[in-house]
Amino acid sequence: MTTSLKAAVIGLGWAGSVHTRVLSSLDGVSLVAVADTDPGRRSRSNGVRTVRGIDELLDIELDYCVVATPTAEHERIGVALAAAGVHALIEKPLASSLPAALRLVEAFEHAGLIGSVGHTERRNPAVRELGVRLRGGDFGAVYQVATRRHSPFPDRIRDVGVVADIAIHDVDLATWLTGRQIISVAAQVSSVSGGPHEDLAAAVLRLSGGEIADIQVSRISPYKERIVIAHTAKGYVMADALTRTITHYDNGDAPGTAVSMRKITTYEVPGAEPFRTQHEAFRDALLGLPNDIVTLRQGAAAVAATEAILAAARTGTYVSLIDHGFIRQ
Ligand SMILES: NC(=O)c1ccc[n+]([C@@H]2O[C@H](COP(=O)([O-])OP(=O)(O)OC[C@H]3O[C@@H](n4cnc5c(N)ncnc54)[C@H](O)[C@@H]3O)[C@@H](O)[C@H]2O)c1
Repeated sequence: MTTSLKAAVIGLGWAGSVHTRVLSSLDGVSLVAVADTDPGRRSRSNGVRTVRGIDELLDIELDYCVVATPTAEHERIGVALAAAGVHALIEKPLASSLPAALRLVEAFEHAGLIGSVGHTERRNPAVRELGVRLRGGDFGAVYQVATRRHSPFPDRIRDVGVVADIAIHDVDLATWLTGRQIISVAAQVSSVSGGPHEDLAAAVLRLSGGEIADIQVSRISPYKERIVIAHTAKGYVMADALTRTITHYDNGDAPGTAVSMRKITTYEVPGAEPFRTQHEAFRDALLGLPNDIVTLRQGAAAVAATEAILAAARTGTYVSLIDHGFIRQ
Protein backbone atom coordinates (compact mmCIF):
# COMPACT_ATOMS: atom_id res chain seq x y z
CA MET A 1 0.00 0.00 0.00
CA THR A 2 1.68 3.27 -1.07
CA THR A 3 -0.84 5.82 0.30
CA SER A 4 0.29 7.44 3.52
CA LEU A 5 -2.46 8.93 5.64
CA LYS A 6 -1.19 11.38 8.26
CA ALA A 7 -2.46 10.35 11.69
CA ALA A 8 -2.17 11.74 15.21
CA VAL A 9 -3.16 10.52 18.69
CA ILE A 10 -4.37 12.82 21.46
CA GLY A 11 -4.25 11.35 24.98
CA LEU A 12 -1.25 9.13 25.72
CA GLY A 13 -2.59 7.04 28.60
CA TRP A 14 -3.39 3.32 28.43
CA ALA A 15 -5.56 3.49 25.31
CA GLY A 16 -3.44 6.17 23.60
CA SER A 17 -0.26 4.14 24.04
CA VAL A 18 -1.89 1.13 22.32
CA HIS A 19 -3.15 3.33 19.47
CA THR A 20 0.31 4.89 19.12
CA ARG A 21 2.03 1.50 18.99
CA VAL A 22 -0.41 0.13 16.39
CA LEU A 23 -0.30 3.28 14.22
CA SER A 24 3.52 3.23 14.26
CA SER A 25 3.47 0.03 12.20
CA LEU A 26 0.22 0.28 10.22
CA ASP A 27 0.55 -0.10 6.47
CA GLY A 28 -0.62 3.01 4.61
CA VAL A 29 -0.47 5.31 7.65
CA SER A 30 2.19 7.64 9.11
CA LEU A 31 1.92 8.64 12.75
CA VAL A 32 2.98 12.31 12.47
CA ALA A 33 2.17 13.69 15.94
CA VAL A 34 0.95 12.86 19.43
CA ALA A 35 -0.47 15.16 22.12
CA ASP A 36 -0.96 15.06 25.88
CA THR A 37 -1.38 17.73 28.54
CA ASP A 38 0.88 15.75 30.89
CA PRO A 39 4.63 16.40 30.35
CA GLY A 40 5.50 12.97 31.75
CA ARG A 41 3.31 11.27 29.16
CA ARG A 42 4.73 13.48 26.39
CA SER A 43 8.27 12.40 27.27
CA ARG A 44 7.42 8.78 26.32
CA SER A 45 6.57 9.59 22.69
CA ASN A 46 9.51 7.72 21.09
CA GLY A 47 10.65 10.45 18.72
CA VAL A 48 7.23 11.30 17.21
CA ARG A 49 6.48 15.05 17.12
CA THR A 50 4.82 15.90 20.43
CA VAL A 51 2.50 18.76 21.39
CA ARG A 52 0.40 19.69 24.42
CA GLY A 53 -3.16 19.68 23.12
CA ILE A 54 -5.71 20.03 20.38
CA ASP A 55 -4.87 23.66 19.44
CA GLU A 56 -1.23 22.85 18.68
CA LEU A 57 -2.22 19.58 17.00
CA LEU A 58 -4.43 21.46 14.55
CA ASP A 59 -1.44 23.47 13.34
CA ILE A 60 -0.08 20.21 11.89
CA GLU A 61 -1.40 18.81 8.59
CA LEU A 62 -3.47 15.74 9.49
CA ASP A 63 -5.85 13.35 7.73
CA TYR A 64 -7.16 11.89 10.97
CA CYS A 65 -6.78 11.87 14.71
CA VAL A 66 -7.44 9.29 17.42
CA VAL A 67 -9.07 10.80 20.50
CA ALA A 68 -7.96 8.80 23.57
CA THR A 69 -8.41 11.43 26.29
CA PRO A 70 -10.80 10.92 29.22
CA THR A 71 -14.43 10.81 28.04
CA ALA A 72 -15.28 14.29 29.37
CA GLU A 73 -12.89 15.77 26.74
CA HIS A 74 -14.18 13.79 23.72
CA GLU A 75 -16.84 16.29 22.66
CA ARG A 76 -14.65 19.41 22.81
CA ILE A 77 -11.75 17.76 20.97
CA GLY A 78 -13.98 15.95 18.46
CA VAL A 79 -15.90 19.11 17.55
CA ALA A 80 -12.60 20.99 17.06
CA LEU A 81 -11.33 18.21 14.76
CA ALA A 82 -14.55 18.26 12.73
CA ALA A 83 -14.38 22.05 12.40
CA ALA A 84 -10.81 21.71 11.09
CA GLY A 85 -11.80 19.04 8.53
CA VAL A 86 -9.97 16.17 10.28
CA HIS A 87 -11.53 12.66 10.40
CA ALA A 88 -11.54 11.04 13.85
CA LEU A 89 -11.56 7.72 15.64
CA ILE A 90 -12.91 8.55 19.10
CA GLU A 91 -12.55 6.17 22.05
CA LYS A 92 -15.61 4.74 23.77
CA PRO A 93 -17.79 6.02 25.37
CA LEU A 94 -18.29 8.45 22.49
CA ALA A 95 -19.18 11.25 24.93
CA SER A 96 -20.21 11.81 28.53
CA SER A 97 -23.89 12.42 27.67
CA LEU A 98 -26.29 11.60 24.86
CA PRO A 99 -26.70 15.27 23.80
CA ALA A 100 -22.88 15.57 23.60
CA ALA A 101 -22.68 12.34 21.57
CA LEU A 102 -25.37 13.64 19.18
CA ARG A 103 -23.49 16.94 18.79
CA LEU A 104 -20.45 14.92 17.69
CA VAL A 105 -22.56 12.94 15.20
CA GLU A 106 -23.93 16.21 13.81
CA ALA A 107 -20.49 17.88 13.61
CA PHE A 108 -18.94 15.03 11.59
CA GLU A 109 -21.97 14.43 9.36
CA HIS A 110 -22.34 18.17 8.65
CA ALA A 111 -18.65 18.42 7.70
CA GLY A 112 -18.85 15.28 5.51
CA LEU A 113 -16.14 13.61 7.60
CA ILE A 114 -15.72 10.04 8.79
CA GLY A 115 -16.01 9.46 12.50
CA SER A 116 -15.84 6.16 14.32
CA VAL A 117 -15.96 4.92 17.92
CA GLY A 118 -13.50 2.55 19.62
CA HIS A 119 -15.87 -0.30 20.49
CA THR A 120 -13.03 -2.81 20.31
CA GLU A 121 -14.86 -5.69 22.07
CA ARG A 122 -16.62 -6.39 18.77
CA ARG A 123 -13.17 -7.09 17.36
CA ASN A 124 -12.06 -9.71 19.86
CA PRO A 125 -11.58 -12.76 17.59
CA ALA A 126 -13.91 -15.07 19.59
CA VAL A 127 -16.65 -12.43 19.96
CA ARG A 128 -16.33 -11.55 16.30
CA GLU A 129 -16.69 -15.22 15.32
CA LEU A 130 -19.81 -15.48 17.52
CA GLY A 131 -21.30 -12.39 15.84
CA VAL A 132 -20.54 -13.57 12.32
CA ARG A 133 -22.04 -17.03 13.03
CA LEU A 134 -25.14 -15.69 14.85
CA ARG A 135 -25.92 -13.16 12.15
CA GLY A 136 -25.13 -15.72 9.44
CA GLY A 137 -27.85 -17.99 10.90
CA ASP A 138 -25.56 -20.89 11.97
CA PHE A 139 -27.44 -21.24 15.27
CA GLY A 140 -30.97 -20.35 14.10
CA ALA A 141 -33.05 -17.87 16.08
CA VAL A 142 -31.34 -15.98 18.94
CA TYR A 143 -33.51 -15.82 22.08
CA GLN A 144 -31.20 -14.27 24.66
CA VAL A 145 -27.73 -12.76 24.94
CA ALA A 146 -26.02 -12.73 28.34
CA THR A 147 -22.70 -11.05 29.12
CA ARG A 148 -20.44 -11.11 32.18
CA ARG A 149 -17.59 -8.60 32.38
CA HIS A 150 -15.76 -8.38 35.71
CA SER A 151 -12.41 -6.68 36.44
CA PRO A 152 -10.27 -5.32 39.26
CA PHE A 153 -10.61 -1.59 40.00
CA PRO A 154 -8.73 0.45 37.34
CA ASP A 155 -6.14 3.07 38.33
CA ARG A 156 -7.12 5.32 35.47
CA ILE A 157 -10.83 5.69 34.69
CA ARG A 158 -12.28 7.90 37.44
CA ASP A 159 -14.55 10.27 35.52
CA VAL A 160 -17.31 7.71 34.79
CA GLY A 161 -18.83 4.68 36.50
CA VAL A 162 -18.77 1.03 35.45
CA VAL A 163 -21.91 1.42 33.30
CA ALA A 164 -20.47 4.13 31.01
CA ASP A 165 -16.97 2.64 31.10
CA ILE A 166 -17.58 -1.12 30.88
CA ALA A 167 -21.26 -1.97 30.28
CA ILE A 168 -21.13 0.23 27.18
CA HIS A 169 -19.16 -2.60 25.52
CA ASP A 170 -22.00 -5.00 26.31
CA VAL A 171 -24.86 -2.81 25.09
CA ASP A 172 -22.88 -2.39 21.87
CA LEU A 173 -22.40 -6.19 21.66
CA ALA A 174 -26.09 -6.91 22.38
CA THR A 175 -27.12 -4.78 19.38
CA TRP A 176 -24.27 -5.85 17.10
CA LEU A 177 -24.60 -9.61 17.81
CA THR A 178 -28.35 -9.59 17.15
CA GLY A 179 -28.67 -6.77 14.60
CA ARG A 180 -31.43 -5.29 16.84
CA GLN A 181 -32.06 -2.04 18.71
CA ILE A 182 -32.49 -1.78 22.48
CA ILE A 183 -36.11 -0.90 23.23
CA SER A 184 -36.26 -0.85 27.02
CA VAL A 185 -34.19 -1.56 30.13
CA ALA A 186 -34.45 -2.42 33.81
CA ALA A 187 -31.35 -2.19 35.98
CA GLN A 188 -29.76 -2.04 39.43
CA VAL A 189 -26.37 -0.52 40.32
CA SER A 190 -24.23 -0.30 43.47
CA SER A 191 -21.23 1.70 44.62
CA VAL A 192 -18.96 -0.21 46.99
CA SER A 193 -15.56 1.48 46.52
CA GLY A 194 -16.59 4.75 48.15
CA GLY A 195 -16.19 6.66 44.88
CA PRO A 196 -18.85 8.91 43.33
CA HIS A 197 -19.80 6.38 40.64
CA GLU A 198 -21.29 2.88 40.53
CA ASP A 199 -18.92 -0.12 40.60
CA LEU A 200 -21.43 -2.93 39.99
CA ALA A 201 -24.38 -3.15 37.64
CA ALA A 202 -26.92 -5.66 36.39
CA ALA A 203 -29.24 -4.76 33.53
CA VAL A 204 -31.94 -6.55 31.55
CA LEU A 205 -32.67 -5.22 28.08
CA ARG A 206 -35.51 -5.94 25.66
CA LEU A 207 -34.38 -5.84 22.02
CA SER A 208 -36.46 -4.90 19.00
CA GLY A 209 -36.85 -8.52 17.78
CA GLY A 210 -38.18 -9.62 21.19
CA GLU A 211 -34.79 -10.96 22.35
CA ILE A 212 -33.60 -10.43 25.93
CA ALA A 213 -30.09 -9.27 26.81
CA ASP A 214 -28.78 -9.55 30.32
CA ILE A 215 -25.64 -7.74 31.34
CA GLN A 216 -23.53 -8.12 34.50
CA VAL A 217 -20.53 -5.85 35.05
CA SER A 218 -18.25 -4.92 37.92
CA ARG A 219 -14.87 -3.33 38.53
CA ILE A 220 -14.26 -4.62 42.03
CA SER A 221 -13.46 -8.23 41.22
CA PRO A 222 -10.06 -9.91 41.65
CA TYR A 223 -11.25 -12.36 38.97
CA LYS A 224 -11.27 -11.05 35.41
CA GLU A 225 -14.08 -12.41 33.26
CA ARG A 226 -15.20 -11.57 29.69
CA ILE A 227 -17.99 -13.93 28.66
CA VAL A 228 -20.68 -13.54 26.00
CA ILE A 229 -23.41 -16.22 25.79
CA ALA A 230 -26.15 -16.64 23.21
CA HIS A 231 -29.15 -18.89 23.86
CA THR A 232 -30.31 -19.96 20.41
CA ALA A 233 -32.57 -22.43 18.59
CA LYS A 234 -29.49 -24.64 18.17
CA GLY A 235 -28.37 -24.49 21.77
CA TYR A 236 -26.02 -22.53 23.99
CA VAL A 237 -23.03 -20.76 22.45
CA MET A 238 -20.40 -19.04 24.56
CA ALA A 239 -17.52 -16.79 23.49
CA ASP A 240 -14.75 -16.32 26.04
CA ALA A 241 -12.92 -13.14 25.04
CA LEU A 242 -9.96 -13.90 27.33
CA THR A 243 -9.23 -17.46 26.15
CA ARG A 244 -10.49 -16.57 22.66
CA THR A 245 -12.59 -19.71 22.46
CA ILE A 246 -16.11 -20.57 21.34
CA THR A 247 -18.04 -23.38 23.07
CA HIS A 248 -21.26 -24.72 21.59
CA TYR A 249 -23.61 -27.02 23.52
CA ASP A 250 -25.61 -28.38 20.61
CA ASN A 251 -29.35 -28.77 21.01
CA GLY A 252 -29.36 -31.33 18.20
CA ASP A 253 -32.57 -31.68 16.23
CA ALA A 254 -34.84 -31.49 19.25
CA PRO A 255 -38.27 -30.28 18.10
CA GLY A 256 -39.84 -27.09 19.46
CA THR A 257 -38.70 -26.27 22.96
CA ALA A 258 -37.52 -29.79 23.79
CA VAL A 259 -33.86 -29.84 24.71
CA SER A 260 -31.68 -32.70 23.59
CA MET A 261 -28.02 -32.14 24.30
CA ARG A 262 -26.11 -33.94 21.57
CA LYS A 263 -22.56 -32.66 21.54
CA ILE A 264 -20.20 -30.06 23.00
CA THR A 265 -17.66 -28.38 20.73
CA THR A 266 -14.94 -25.99 21.85
CA TYR A 267 -12.49 -24.33 19.52
CA GLU A 268 -9.95 -21.53 19.61
CA VAL A 269 -10.35 -18.54 17.33
CA PRO A 270 -7.04 -17.08 16.19
CA GLY A 271 -6.96 -13.47 15.07
CA ALA A 272 -5.18 -10.15 15.17
CA GLU A 273 -5.15 -7.67 18.02
CA PRO A 274 -8.55 -5.84 18.18
CA PHE A 275 -6.93 -2.36 18.14
CA ARG A 276 -5.06 -3.33 14.95
CA THR A 277 -8.15 -4.57 13.09
CA GLN A 278 -9.99 -1.45 14.26
CA HIS A 279 -7.28 0.75 12.73
CA GLU A 280 -7.21 -1.28 9.52
CA ALA A 281 -10.98 -0.77 9.18
CA PHE A 282 -10.71 2.98 9.85
CA ARG A 283 -7.88 3.37 7.34
CA ASP A 284 -9.91 1.43 4.75
CA ALA A 285 -12.93 3.70 5.39
CA LEU A 286 -10.77 6.75 4.70
CA LEU A 287 -9.47 5.13 1.51
CA GLY A 288 -13.04 4.38 0.34
CA LEU A 289 -12.52 0.61 0.68
CA PRO A 290 -15.03 -1.87 2.17
CA ASN A 291 -14.85 -1.65 5.96
CA ASP A 292 -16.77 -2.40 9.14
CA ILE A 293 -16.12 0.67 11.29
CA VAL A 294 -18.35 1.39 14.28
CA THR A 295 -20.21 4.55 13.25
CA LEU A 296 -20.70 7.61 15.44
CA ARG A 297 -24.45 6.91 15.37
CA GLN A 298 -23.81 3.42 16.77
CA GLY A 299 -21.57 4.99 19.43
CA ALA A 300 -24.35 7.47 20.32
CA ALA A 301 -26.88 4.59 20.52
CA ALA A 302 -24.59 2.86 23.04
CA VAL A 303 -24.42 6.07 25.11
CA ALA A 304 -28.25 6.26 24.98
CA ALA A 305 -28.49 2.71 26.30
CA THR A 306 -26.09 3.33 29.19
CA GLU A 307 -27.98 6.51 30.14
CA ALA A 308 -31.20 4.50 30.10
CA ILE A 309 -29.60 1.85 32.35
CA LEU A 310 -28.56 4.55 34.85
CA ALA A 311 -32.03 6.17 34.68
CA ALA A 312 -33.70 2.78 35.28
CA ALA A 313 -31.44 2.11 38.28
CA ARG A 314 -31.98 5.61 39.71
CA THR A 315 -35.76 5.51 39.42
CA GLY A 316 -36.29 1.79 40.02
CA THR A 317 -38.48 1.69 36.92
CA TYR A 318 -38.49 0.04 33.54
CA VAL A 319 -37.22 2.66 31.05
CA SER A 320 -38.41 2.73 27.43
CA LEU A 321 -35.71 4.24 25.21
CA ILE A 322 -38.37 5.61 22.86
CA ASP A 323 -40.71 7.09 25.51
CA HIS A 324 -37.77 8.74 27.26
CA GLY A 325 -36.41 10.22 24.02
CA PHE A 326 -33.19 8.17 24.08
CA ILE A 327 -33.97 6.90 20.58
CA ARG A 328 -36.46 7.89 17.87
CA GLN A 329 -38.81 5.35 16.32
N1 LIG B 1 -11.49 0.57 23.59
C1 LIG B 1 -11.06 0.12 24.72
O1 LIG B 1 -11.01 -1.09 24.95
C2 LIG B 1 -10.58 1.09 25.78
C3 LIG B 1 -9.75 0.67 26.82
C4 LIG B 1 -9.34 1.61 27.76
C5 LIG B 1 -9.75 2.94 27.67
N2 LIG B 1 -10.59 3.30 26.65
C6 LIG B 1 -11.06 4.69 26.54
O2 LIG B 1 -9.96 5.52 26.18
C7 LIG B 1 -10.10 6.80 26.82
C8 LIG B 1 -8.85 7.05 27.67
O3 LIG B 1 -8.74 6.04 28.64
P1 LIG B 1 -7.32 5.66 29.29
O4 LIG B 1 -7.55 4.47 30.10
O5 LIG B 1 -6.26 5.64 28.24
O6 LIG B 1 -7.13 6.93 30.24
P2 LIG B 1 -5.78 7.49 30.87
O7 LIG B 1 -6.19 8.31 32.03
O8 LIG B 1 -4.80 6.38 31.04
O9 LIG B 1 -5.17 8.48 29.75
C9 LIG B 1 -5.78 9.67 29.34
C10 LIG B 1 -4.66 10.60 28.87
O10 LIG B 1 -5.26 11.79 28.30
C11 LIG B 1 -4.49 12.92 28.72
N3 LIG B 1 -5.36 14.09 28.63
C12 LIG B 1 -6.38 14.46 29.46
N4 LIG B 1 -6.99 15.56 28.98
C13 LIG B 1 -6.33 15.91 27.83
C14 LIG B 1 -6.48 16.95 26.90
N5 LIG B 1 -7.46 17.86 27.01
N6 LIG B 1 -5.62 17.02 25.85
C15 LIG B 1 -4.62 16.10 25.72
N7 LIG B 1 -4.42 15.08 26.58
C16 LIG B 1 -5.27 14.98 27.62
C17 LIG B 1 -4.07 12.58 30.14
O11 LIG B 1 -2.94 13.35 30.53
C18 LIG B 1 -3.73 11.09 30.00
O12 LIG B 1 -2.38 10.89 29.61
C19 LIG B 1 -11.39 6.75 27.64
O13 LIG B 1 -12.45 7.28 26.86
C20 LIG B 1 -11.61 5.24 27.83
O14 LIG B 1 -12.96 4.89 28.04
C21 LIG B 1 -10.99 2.42 25.70
